[in-house]
Amino acid sequence: MSSTEKIPYVVTGKNYTAVAVNCAAKSGEWIKSKLGQYKSLQLKSSLHDLVTEVDKGAEQMIRRLIMTHFPHHAILGEEGVEPGTDVSRLALEQAQSEEYLWIVDPLDGTTNFVHGFPFYSVSIALAHRGEVIVGVVYDPMRDELFVAEKGKGAYVHGSPIQVADERELSGSLIASGFPTERERALPINLAGMAALAPQVRNIRTAGSAALHMAYIAAGRLTGFWELNLNAWDLAAGSLLIQEAGGRVTDTYGQPYHVGVRDVVASNGHIHDAFVHALAEVDAQG
Ligand code: IPD
Ligand code: CA
Ligand code: CA
Repeated sequence: MSSTEKIPYVVTGKNYTAVAVNCAAKSGEWIKSKLGQYKSLQLKSSLHDLVTEVDKGAEQMIRRLIMTHFPHHAILGEEGVEPGTDVSRLALEQAQSEEYLWIVDPLDGTTNFVHGFPFYSVSIALAHRGEVIVGVVYDPMRDELFVAEKGKGAYVHGSPIQVADERELSGSLIASGFPTERERALPINLAGMAALAPQVRNIRTAGSAALHMAYIAAGRLTGFWELNLNAWDLAAGSLLIQEAGGRVTDTYGQPYHVGVRDVVASNGHIHDAFVHALAEVDAQG
């Protein structure tokens, strides 16, 4: 090649975490700039399941950035999947065999975003042959970036984080949610809340599953459970918690994998008692 010939530009380097961080930071800043200014509000699977053009725009931004660096990787993003439990399950099944799969919730906590309640996040994970190897959750309101890499620990803005030390349910601050699927998941989740409320220090339902998970990793919450969540709600948070010393399972106590929808996450110490408390009132789903 002569010195005057142009060398085609190729983005090289395999720093998956840097790309995840960049995607989360850029889209998060953009989402924050739109707080209170969305233009179109649509219902998805139910009256309680919302989407705006900001969710869709953020996902497009993330997809473009990932594709720039890793054009051969697959992406499972919430806004690329039709609403509903069966369709989401199928989308994951089809994507799961991909060597590298990015799992993206561009805006976790859309209801909060729509109401101007400042608790929502961007959640981005990378799975290699089904195992999550990178997890990033970004809270643009507090500018908190939670990052985990498989085997390398969990961090918020470069400082290591770890789960809380509570040993008993009675001293635990637990989070949950009100599932958007109101026929099966909501009543079961409510039964769990009724059973746990008197046994724990308190329960929080702040409206972003991914951020609840990040807060367990950072030791601010002791545990979290919720039924009928999707891979994009949980994948990044699951790695954050595991790398921060905690435990993530399904509601029966079976180890987390990207197909888990009914989740129990905790600092590990309270995990068995937590699962047992749900089992006692048949609230495992
Ligand atoms: C929702 C949030 C919420 C949880 C719902 C999720 P979305 O995600 O994580 O906390 O209770 O079940 O669907 O729709 O805002 O991305
Ligand atoms: Ca979500
Ligand atoms: Ca979302």
